[in-house]
Amino acid sequence: MQALSFPGGKGPNLIVDDGGDASLLVHLGFKGENDPKVLDVKASSNEEAIILNTLKEIRKSEPGKWHDVVRDLAGISEETTTGVHRLYQMLEKGELLVPAINVNDSVTKSKFDNLYGCRESLADGIKRATDVMIAGKVVVVCGYGDVGKGCAKSMRSYGARVIITEIDPICALQASMEGFEVKTVEDSLDEGNIFVTATGNRDIITLEHMMRMKDQAIVCNIGHFDNEIQMDRLTGMPGLERVNIKPQVDKYVFPDGHAIFILAEGRLVNLGCATGHPSFVMSNSFSNQTLAQIDLWRNRYKVGVYRLSKQLDEEVARLHLDQLGVKLTKLTEEQALYLGIDKAGPYKPEHYRY
Ligand SMILES: NC(=O)c1ccc[n+]([C@@H]2O[C@H](COP(=O)([O-])OP(=O)(O)OC[C@H]3O[C@@H](n4cnc5c(N)ncnc54)[C@H](O)[C@@H]3O)[C@@H](O)[C@H]2O)c1
Repeated sequence: MQALSFPGGKGPNLIVDDGGDASLLVHLGFKGENDPKVLDVKASSNEEAIILNTLKEIRKSEPGKWHDVVRDLAGISEETTTGVHRLYQMLEKGELLVPAINVNDSVTKSKFDNLYGCRESLADGIKRATDVMIAGKVVVVCGYGDVGKGCAKSMRSYGARVIITEIDPICALQASMEGFEVKTVEDSLDEGNIFVTATGNRDIITLEHMMRMKDQAIVCNIGHFDNEIQMDRLTGMPGLERVNIKPQVDKYVFPDGHAIFILAEGRLVNLGCATGHPSFVMSNSFSNQTLAQIDLWRNRYKVGVYRLSKQLDEEVARLHLDQLGVKLTKLTEEQALYLGIDKAGPYKPEHYRY
């Protein structure tokens, strides 16, 4: 709440969001001021309960706060897959209150942070937490989107045998074409040594899965939220013993004697057990965020969800080339004419998939 509170009872002019929590507070707070009943619903997780209680308290202590905040808010830029998904859902339902820029789907964000970032920081988190040898292990990666692709490649590069789970036939086929075995979590339980969730969805690893996992299996999440793993059900299970090995690493011993390790309490393993992505990756993401914030402030869009232009996306990449000693080839006039594009870009059509 502190991040959303400025002197004189003011709120922010712009929100740089990462996961959609700040946007959720503003939108749910606003809705709760119109209809208090929306805050009286049963929470489906501890985190949701905290949000609902916080908003109920603010309704009493600062009535009308969220309407004031929305009045001064020029927009939101959001950088995660899940946060962006929520923005589009709000737009569809007619509930979005301010313009928003989807930074996640800039190529220089999703193909860098989600893919190359997680390719390094997943292993960093697992190693710092457990010191386990990854080579020779069976790693089950749930979800083969950008994050899952990075995780799978990373684990394979260490010498692990990687199994993918997917719901999307295109991603499942991609995984198969990369040589990964694709099956369900249920079918992987008796061989998986390390389970990684990377879906942005909920209930991917259920309590029943954990009860059937091999002894000493490691379970972690690099997706969005701790509900990818059923942490609430796990910690509420009668007869389960929790042994804290060190901060962010817990061993859970089931009544039958077998144990599993949960990293970062089911929250993001690369943040909880390591220090997130390398700064070079974040520089790409934050360059997008910065350009989005300037764009929102200067251009005062109508309510909607926008993407950064391809020119700006290319600009973010261009800004990072020198550091890596990358030398670009320049198009000749004839080549540009031949391809029907401007010499200065953009070099690809909007629908191009990198
Ligand atoms: N930890 C980090 O540093 C980090 C970085 C970037 C993104 N993220 C988060 O990671 C999550 C995934 O991001 P992404 O960009 O890869 O998204 P994505 O949409 O590209 O990939 C998610 C994949 O999960 C699959 N999926 C959904 N439900 C599933 C299920 N029940 N079983 C198996 N697969 C399922 C989807 O089909 C999709 O292919 C998001 O929540 C995102 O916010 C985390």
